[in-house]
Amino acid sequence: MTLVQPRRVAAVIGGRQHDLYAAAGPAGIAPDEVRVITSTNPAHLGEVVAEVVLDGAEAIVAAAAAARAAQREWADVPPPVRGEVIGAFGRLVEDNAEALARLVTREVGKPLAEARGEVQEIVDTCTLFRAEGRRPQGQTVPSEMPDRELFTYREPLGVVMVITAGNFPVAVPSWYLVPALLTGNAVVWKPAEYAAACAAALVDLLTAAGVPAGVANLVLADGAATSVGLERALDAGLVDKVGFTGSTPVGRFVGALCGRHLQTPCLELGGKNPMVLAPDADLDAAANAALFAGFGTAGQRCTSLGTVIAHESVHDAFRRRLTAALERAVIGDPMRDVLYGPLLDARFAAGFEEHLASIRDHHEPFGSTALGRIGQASPRRGFAGDPEAGLYYHPVVVDGVRPDDDLFTEETFGPIVGLTSYRNLEEAVELANRPGYGLSSSIFTGDPVTVRRFRRGIRAGMVSVNTSTSGAEAHLPFGGNGRSGNGARQSGQWVLDQMTRWQSLTWELSGRLQKAQMDVSVPAADLSFRLPMPAGPQQ
Ligand code: UN1
Repeated sequence: MTLVQPRRVAAVIGGRQHDLYAAAGPAGIAPDEVRVITSTNPAHLGEVVAEVVLDGAEAIVAAAAAARAAQREWADVPPPVRGEVIGAFGRLVEDNAEALARLVTREVGKPLAEARGEVQEIVDTCTLFRAEGRRPQGQTVPSEMPDRELFTYREPLGVVMVITAGNFPVAVPSWYLVPALLTGNAVVWKPAEYAAACAAALVDLLTAAGVPAGVANLVLADGAATSVGLERALDAGLVDKVGFTGSTPVGRFVGALCGRHLQTPCLELGGKNPMVLAPDADLDAAANAALFAGFGTAGQRCTSLGTVIAHESVHDAFRRRLTAALERAVIGDPMRDVLYGPLLDARFAAGFEEHLASIRDHHEPFGSTALGRIGQASPRRGFAGDPEAGLYYHPVVVDGVRPDDDLFTEETFGPIVGLTSYRNLEEAVELANRPGYGLSSSIFTGDPVTVRRFRRGIRAGMVSVNTSTSGAEAHLPFGGNGRSGNGARQSGQWVLDQMTRWQSLTWELSGRLQKAQMDVSVPAADLSFRLPMPAGPQQ
């Protein structure tokens, strides 16, 4: 039964809602290209959160054209004023925090406490970038010749296309949208269809904050239409940068497409994030961190814990602690105080079941009384709510994972964690790097030398010591290497390099042509000169 009236969510292009029932959309998009799907609450599958009007590829091109048309004027708004718009957006998010957090929980099923944290991450991002509008940006650079001035400027790129997943339906998009807008770009955002209501709410808040029509556009499309639309928009010269958060295979596709247009996208892909336990690890702290890192957000963060790599001397003691922690954990209705709620959507539940099928005879699953979906046939002690109502899964830790196992090398995006052991630090680092991702990582030890060796050996973009692989603060560079991304960094001041390009200015004031490198006069040096050796008794 639907208790709440579902919202109909449609594209917003050039400030106008693309209405399915109108004869044609803002760019003359024919209604027969659109289709309507529902976004449901994964904790109460009968509850429709939104009816989502999905467009075809043409809507993406139309949105990019609308962004192109609006961008120049937005770029002419002084950066401190654009900063004030970002500040107003942050204030509005803060003042609407509870409504937005509850919507996040309803639409993607993350526990309310986590949803509140996610909303706070937007506020933090806005706090940083509001001030960034008033910061000195370019440099004055000395010239090698007299009467000449050199300067650098940060210039907006133009149109930024943002494509995001739904596990962080509002915070991760804001990591792109906020700095892109602050630096004078216009954006086209294609969120996950199963998080469309969250996206529409965020766009409403951007509009209320004073972002002009056409500067922030929303399109809703499935993966196939998005690929075609992005390709056409790139071909038409309407997109200057792509920010993509999602799977590694789709990231490769986006990277190849952008490469053809000599563009470097900002790619934030998957992770298989290791947690190494040194012989001196604080095992209580490690078990707590593993519980949050592995099972928070039902294991559906890019930064979720993949494999615990425990020194052989602490493996058994750690396993006992993690078992006890999982037994105590309450799973269930995300509106309650639970470790985790349902999986994001049916597609993710199906994907997770495939990973569960990779459990082999040499593995030792532990941490739960059953495997797979929680329900009447497979109940869980420590469950809050009605398990049949949603996409709930038993947590599992798989001991004995080997370097060639799929469970060791592939991101699993669900409540599953691997466990293995090692003998020396070199082996631990090799195991930690083995899957070829490189997003987040963590080590538990009190020894600074071990920390240093681990940090230098691990290929991850983010390293944590004595804490979770997940839960990065909003003002540190976020991003990965290898299968986790192309080295682009989001978040914090570092993202400015993604959203702008440097322009240099050479200003000749001498009234004549001074040729760099050729007309430079440097006083002659006598490089054969040596100081006399001081006299006195030789030591
Ligand atoms: C993601 O899963 O894509 O560090 C982002 C974290 C969060 C962001 C995760 N701040 O876990």
